Amino acid sequence: MADWTPADMPDLEGTTVVVTGANSGLGFEGTRAFARRGATVVMACRSVDRGEHAATEIRESAAADPDSDPDLDLDVRKCDLASLDSIRSFAEGLSADYDAVDVLCNNAGVMAIPRSETEDGFETQFGVNHLGHFALTGRLFDLLLTADGIDGKSAARSAASSRTGSGAARIVTQSSGAHEQGEMDFADLNWEESYGKWKAYGRSKLANLLFAYELQRRIDAADLGVRSVACHPGYADTDLQMRTARESGNPLMTVGMRLANAVFGQDAAVGVEPMLYAATADVDGGAYVEPGGFMNMRGHPTIGRSNDASYDRADARRLWEYSTEATGVTFPFGSEESLDP
Ligand SMILES: NC(=O)c1ccc[n+]([C@@H]2O[C@H](COP(=O)([O-])OP(=O)(O)OC[C@H]3O[C@@H](n4cnc5c(N)ncnc54)[C@H](OP(=O)(O)O)[C@@H]3O)[C@@H](O)[C@H]2O)c1
Repeated sequence: MADWTPADMPDLEGTTVVVTGANSGLGFEGTRAFARRGATVVMACRSVDRGEHAATEIRESAAADPDSDPDLDLDVRKCDLASLDSIRSFAEGLSADYDAVDVLCNNAGVMAIPRSETEDGFETQFGVNHLGHFALTGRLFDLLLTADGIDGKSAARSAASSRTGSGAARIVTQSSGAHEQGEMDFADLNWEESYGKWKAYGRSKLANLLFAYELQRRIDAADLGVRSVACHPGYADTDLQMRTARESGNPLMTVGMRLANAVFGQDAAVGVEPMLYAATADVDGGAYVEPGGFMNMRGHPTIGRSNDASYDRADARRLWEYSTEATGVTFPFGSEESLDP
């Protein structure tokens, strides 16, 4: 298990994988890995220019590598998670052009930026990291339901598993170890009374987990085969920390973050392994995949456990209700009554 690497991924020919934030960091490396295994990867990016630039880089690196198929299937599309309209347009476009989505990777994110609001008036970290992905998942759910899934392609999948039927799609939600610093305050989810940029990041990442686990409970209650799996990358050297520094306006923070990334950050190609594992390996719905190395901050993927707050069912249900009301997006299953108390 500790030695799992992307080389263990199954053949993904014929599958469709959607990756949010595909132009940078973990999303970029995830896109590259899925595409090299033969998947069609829909690169959901807030900037189509940056997405196309990233797609070109991925294609060029494949063309220069004798071990890679040079003809990667990449489809760059606009999806700004800070806009419910953009999410709706993206989902409508996908429904028009695709029959099914086998894997949705809810990966994009922002970290510890000064308070701002999305187009719809949500505090940006909560709005992009959680609410945007909630809305996107709901809007893509019909496409996920019609998918054959990775397991339809993989002979390695055990037919004995009763929890997850073969031929099922997956939703992978990228959280962070920072969820442990998150606290749900349902009286001020939009951070209007007070704002701490790190606290807001922690809460958005806790919300990712509450959502991922609640989604699995609702899927199970509706007896659907789809799996919702959560993961975190440990500490990876990406633009996430550099954007935090840029937006702080403090040049010293840029120097500090660059240094910290160089010393402590693992390569994004390794940081993305928990997401790749959650998307393609033999893993149960509701699992939490994390790096198995030093302090779960680096190394190859393993199954772990997030903090107790992330498994709080009452908070998860409240968050689901709030998110439904805030985004206006409903899922095609699961009334509250159908869930265990
Ligand atoms: N790197 C780490 O050590 C670490 C640790 C724990 C968790 N994570 C999580 O990993 C995920 C990926 O982060 P990363 O490290 O790969 O950072 P990154 O290199 O900064 O990538 C973040 C991606 O999210 C996109 N994004 C930001 N706002 C968006 C919006 N409104 N709509 C759509 N996309 C948007 C960015 O697009 P632009 O390029 O256009 O800004 C970028 O493609 C995040 O959810 C983060 O919380 C990372």
